[in-house]
Amino acid sequence: MQLPSRPVVLTGASGALGRELARRLGEAGWPLVLTDIAPFPDPVPAAARFIAADLEDGVAILRLCEGAGTILHFGGVSVERPFEAVLGPNIRGLYHIYEAARRERARVVFASSNHVIGFHERTTPLDAECAYRPDGYYGLSKAYGELMARLYFDKHGVESVILRIGSCFPEPRDARMLATWLSYADLVRLVTCATLAERVGVATIWGASANARSFWRRDDRAVIGWEPKDSADAFAPALAAKVSDDPVAERFQGGAFCAIDYTRDRG
Ligand SMILES: NC(=O)c1ccc[n+]([C@@H]2O[C@H](COP(=O)([O-])OP(=O)(O)OC[C@H]3O[C@@H](n4cnc5c(N)ncnc54)[C@H](O)[C@@H]3O)[C@@H](O)[C@H]2O)c1
Repeated sequence: MQLPSRPVVLTGASGALGRELARRLGEAGWPLVLTDIAPFPDPVPAAARFIAADLEDGVAILRLCEGAGTILHFGGVSVERPFEAVLGPNIRGLYHIYEAARRERARVVFASSNHVIGFHERTTPLDAECAYRPDGYYGLSKAYGELMARLYFDKHGVESVILRIGSCFPEPRDARMLATWLSYADLVRLVTCATLAERVGVATIWGASANARSFWRRDDRAVIGWEPKDSADAFAPALAAKVSDDPVAERFQGGAFCAIDYTRDRG
């Protein structure tokens, strides 16, 4: 596998996806700078180092990004939380990442989320340039991140690959994930292509495997030369009936996140 010519920073390295990326890219010999507010729970790969840092500490982030060619930004709050809990890591922290990218002339690969469009109905197929319909403060913070990517490209030429990740787990767990599942192997290939592609500008890609039930259509995957190889389809017989009893969760693409704190009539 081709190796990145400059160091690659991975935020959120101690999280579920971060650990997977650290292991797989580490095995391939990538020059990784792993970082997280939590200790790294695994052996640090040979060509990597781990530096503990809070995304809210702008000086620490600038320092650990010195010399980086790519920042894989997977750190921060990853589920729906109250506004005040999301604000620091996902908004101020994101700003620190983009300031570091600007200074280093680095590319950002941003772990965005399907929750930026969660309040679209499941019956509406979406292209990547569809309207934002965030389903909570978490999704809203990711929409802010996607717009941050636009701003830093238009004003400073910082390139971004925005990964609108669906549900990235070892296996799909319910009927909704038959549409939204992204396998770990497809994620690793996606991040690899996003890092090694020649020129990307701002590219937005649905982070989902080749699922027949997908809600999502056109995106910028051709820009980085990525195609998913896995699919949730084989899990359909086991999972198709695994639905919740919440009409809000079942109606919208964002699923259970839409139902959190929902105060409209649920009928
Ligand atoms: N797993 C999925 O299906 C999925 C879907 C959509 C988007 N994403 C996004 O992908 C990324 C990784 O997801 P995950 O499932 O591995 O989440 P995770 O919660 O397991 O990992 C997030 C990591 O960020 C770290 N973090 C939190 N606040 C921090 C701070 N202030 N400073 C430094 N580090 C901090 C945490 O310690 C954690 O290790 C997240 O940005 C998430 O929003 C994931």
